[in-house]
Amino acid sequence: MKQPLLEVKNLQTSFRTEEGLVRAVDGVSFSLRQGEVLGLAGESGCGKSVTAYSISRLLPMPPGQFDGGEILYKGRDILGLKEEEMRRIRGREIAVVFQEPMSALNPVASVSAQIEEALAIHTSLGKAERKERVVHLLARVGIPDPAQRALCYPHELSGGMRQRVMIAMAVSCDPSLLIADEPTTALDVTIQAQILKLIQDMKNETGSAMLLITHDLAVIAETADRAAIMYAGKLVETAAVKNLFAEPAHPYTRGLLNSIPVLGSPGRKLKSIPGRVPNLIDLPGGCAFANRCELAGSRCRNEMPRMVNKDEGHQVRCHLHDGGVK
Ligand SMILES: Nc1ncnc2c1ncn2[C@@H]1O[C@H](COP(=O)(O)OP(=O)(O)OP(=O)(O)O)[C@@H](O)[C@H]1O
Ligand SMILES: [Mg+2]
Repeated sequence: MKQPLLEVKNLQTSFRTEEGLVRAVDGVSFSLRQGEVLGLAGESGCGKSVTAYSISRLLPMPPGQFDGGEILYKGRDILGLKEEEMRRIRGREIAVVFQEPMSALNPVASVSAQIEEALAIHTSLGKAERKERVVHLLARVGIPDPAQRALCYPHELSGGMRQRVMIAMAVSCDPSLLIADEPTTALDVTIQAQILKLIQDMKNETGSAMLLITHDLAVIAETADRAAIMYAGKLVETAAVKNLFAEPAHPYTRGLLNSIPVLGSPGRKLKSIPGRVPNLIDLPGGCAFANRCELAGSRCRNEMPRMVNKDEGHQVRCHLHDGGVK
């Protein structure tokens, strides 16, 4: 079998704070093949963005730190790379689209200048070719009057247009891996669907793999090949999207699925999961979800469940699937 494009092995990322060590990512492992889309979902604060920042090495250090694990990109551990080597990979090989484009764009440079800079760093295109390519890219992401808009500064554009610029910049050098962290949540609902469609189109055109982070399981159902569900810094279930939706194995995944609206039944009352996510500074010894789980037994409170294979390609971290909860 071909080597995976990205292999994250037992990644541990934490933050040193005055209150204590925040274990934001606590032993996360997954792999991504060329052209594959992995959807990563879970409640706010579970460690999705920290996972994305770790892979792209954009984690603020300090307070952030890597405590262990490996991130193999095309077989090379990128955690060991010097910042200079990482800069060559970031943008060219691994590109990131974040939730709030305003914070990722340079406010004092025109759109054209910013995309041209990426092209100048990562490609051998000459100046005239770069300018041409920028206009082509802006047209490609659905920006009207691209030659004119290229001269705009970020604040002169709407949120949806800024996100289109971010996507144009991200795909400008044909990355092998696109990381999209909540790329649509800051946008109006009508614009969200357009941007999501654009991301899918760009992904299909370039054949890049994608790590798509979202709160919205419906987005994952529509876009991803596989899904990973995260809770309190750990993955609790991974499966092909169709298996995850047909046979969710973890009580947390089932809870999340119960809390999405069902098309065609607008009156259906959604069940949210009662209780709260535990404090990542002081995690319980057993399963982090036990205090919110209707099915939890004494074993859940005392012993951390292992990730076990439920079926081919379907893994779950729950005692229910590994000898019982008592
Ligand atoms: N700079 C930081 N200093 C201290 N703690 C941090 C820092 N950045 C993130 N954290 C903590 O790490 C944990 C994971 O945060 P992360 O941003 O990855 O969550 P998330 O899953 O992306 O949530 P959301 O869905 O709200 O974006 C949280 O408890 C957060 O408070
Ligand atoms: Mg986040």
